[in-house]
Amino acid sequence: MEQTLILIKPDAIEKRLTGIILSRFEALGLEIAGAKAVSATEELLRKHYANLAGTPFVDEVVRFMMGDYNHLPDHRIYAFVLRGENAVSRVRAALGATNPDKAEPWTLRGQFGCVKNGVMQNAVHASGTPEEAAREIALWFKPEEVLA
Ligand SMILES: Nc1ncnc2c1ncn2[C@@H]1O[C@H](COP(=O)(O)OP(=O)(O)OP(=O)(O)O)[C@@H](O)[C@H]1O
Ligand SMILES: [Mg+2]
Repeated sequence: MEQTLILIKPDAIEKRLTGIILSRFEALGLEIAGAKAVSATEELLRKHYANLAGTPFVDEVVRFMMGDYNHLPDHRIYAFVLRGENAVSRVRAALGATNPDKAEPWTLRGQFGCVKNGVMQNAVHASGTPEEAAREIALWFKPEEVLA
């Protein structure tokens, strides 16, 4: 069984899409093995997006993930560990392309994402590989917060 990390991003929280997004993963037969609301710090987000360090857009991505382009009262992000057969690739397929303008219309980003003032507001994060999933789950969850 594979595990993957999902983050509901501030744009999707603002649009009250959390339930709809989760229902899509539930419909795929994936199990929720961990769930929490996190007040995300810049430090946590820079660790999460360590692979983007040095790119011209990393600061913008961190600002977006801290809710700077949305209208939330805090820095909330909803984090989930999903579990199931081929969870990583199946969840990525459900998300669609990184850029919502290029995402297929039946995908979550194709349906719920947008590009505003040049910033991708792409609704959901999901781990790209099982190795990335292990690193990200350890970053966002304590071991005892994930079902055995
Ligand atoms: N070329 C780009 N220009 C601007 N922003 C980008 C670009 N590529 C990626 N990003 C931003 O950085 C984030 C992380 O990029 P990554 O390559 O990991 O894509 P992803 O795996 O589809 O997205 P995520 O990791 O957020 O699930 C993207 O969600 C997007 O906000
Ligand atoms: Mg990624």
